[in-house]
Amino acid sequence: MNQSDVRARAREHLFPHFTRGAVWSADELPVIVRGEGCYLYDDRGTRFLDGLAGLFCVNMGHGRSDVPAAATKQMEQLAYWTNWSAAHPASVEAATLISGLAPGDLDTVFFVNSGSEAVESAIKFARQYHLSQGEPQRTKIISRDMSYHGTTLGALAVTGIPKFKAPFGPLMPGVFHVPHTLGERVPEGGTAADLPSLRAMVEVIEREGPDTFAAVFAEPVQNSRGALVPPDGYWAELRSICDRYGILLVADEVICAFGRLGDWFGSAKYGVVPDLITFAKGSTSGYAPLGGVLIREPLAQGLMASSRAGVFTHGSTWGGHPVSTAVAVANVSAMRDEDVLGNVRTLEPHFQAGLDRLREAHPSVLEWRGTGFFYAIELTGDRDSGRDLTEEQGVELVREVMPRAMREVNLITRPDDRGATLLMLSPPLVADREVLDDLLHGVDAVLSAVDAHVRA
Ligand SMILES: Cc1ncc(COP(=O)(O)O)c(C=O)c1O
Repeated sequence: MNQSDVRARAREHLFPHFTRGAVWSADELPVIVRGEGCYLYDDRGTRFLDGLAGLFCVNMGHGRSDVPAAATKQMEQLAYWTNWSAAHPASVEAATLISGLAPGDLDTVFFVNSGSEAVESAIKFARQYHLSQGEPQRTKIISRDMSYHGTTLGALAVTGIPKFKAPFGPLMPGVFHVPHTLGERVPEGGTAADLPSLRAMVEVIEREGPDTFAAVFAEPVQNSRGALVPPDGYWAELRSICDRYGILLVADEVICAFGRLGDWFGSAKYGVVPDLITFAKGSTSGYAPLGGVLIREPLAQGLMASSRAGVFTHGSTWGGHPVSTAVAVANVSAMRDEDVLGNVRTLEPHFQAGLDRLREAHPSVLEWRGTGFFYAIELTGDRDSGRDLTEEQGVELVREVMPRAMREVNLITRPDDRGATLLMLSPPLVADREVLDDLLHGVDAVLSAVDAHVRA
């Protein structure tokens, strides 16, 4: 297929995810054909830096040979078997490896195929668990404003981004959204319990009836609204609120797990053992689709032992697929053996010093937030005078100015308009100092284009 053919056929036959028609039909629609380390090549031979690790997932970088070798070996040996009424070595090995890295007694893994499905499964587990314990009324869920938890209808109900939900109502009832932690700091002499976001959560629980809640869903660092790092003590307080009211705490770690924050799991970074952890992306670095729910062992046993049917009434054909789980084993083993988490921790200060310099240099940068290899740069009209972006400028920056500037410097990353105008950075975790410098250099050029646009 030649270059114009591939774009024409995409327009005709391939229905895009979350993409405006104008972008899909544009001549400059990216067609990526190859990946190598932290770089991608399009069908015109141009090399791009992958500043978002695909979609926050290609943690071990593109074009490895060890992970595909594990996939091929597994396909040759046993391409398919299920986790219904049977097991196979690949899923057992993956579950053992992943649970061994998880905090506390999160010792049991339920495999699925994506982050949305992981969230969906966690909702169902929480409800059925409470039912099995004689509390069928515990069905309600709390999550945070502007949080993204996936697109299937249950996960979408938990998601807190109004524009993603608007076309699809009515959604699952009984989901309550509370404030996220943007700009929050524990007051002097106070504790995390004094944070307005957590006070609001307690208020909702008390108002709606503590024994009607099944679960609280939260990301260790919330992606949507721009890499919201929790205030000190936030997660410990979240744990204590859930314990007080008998609610399950679900850490949605679809982005945060597998080294993105410099730890195997974000919950461990913040010193907490949640009841469930949902994961996906980095578990295979995108070499195969996989998601999962880590479950505290007593809860898994509790559901099995006490459910009338003695079964978690949920599953799917591809859940725990041999090839995906073999890929997870190879990917996570490589991550461990190559000390990729060490790389993230070592280079974090260098990354952050670069972001500090970018903020200094560009008046359109309000602030940067994040940790590990996971950052958001929030944009404004002019930081010094306090002038905000107009709504129109925000749209122009996200749709035109930043994508054009990124193309000019051969950088792929994500301009984001969820709750503010942002540029997200989340490179592969194997990026070295030189790659990070290349990334920061590209972002510098993008921010110059932003400065010029909002000044004009
Ligand atoms: C925190 C979180 N949860 C769930 C999801 C949904 O994952 P998927 O796109 O694999 O369905 C995402 C996707 O980005 C996510 O970031």
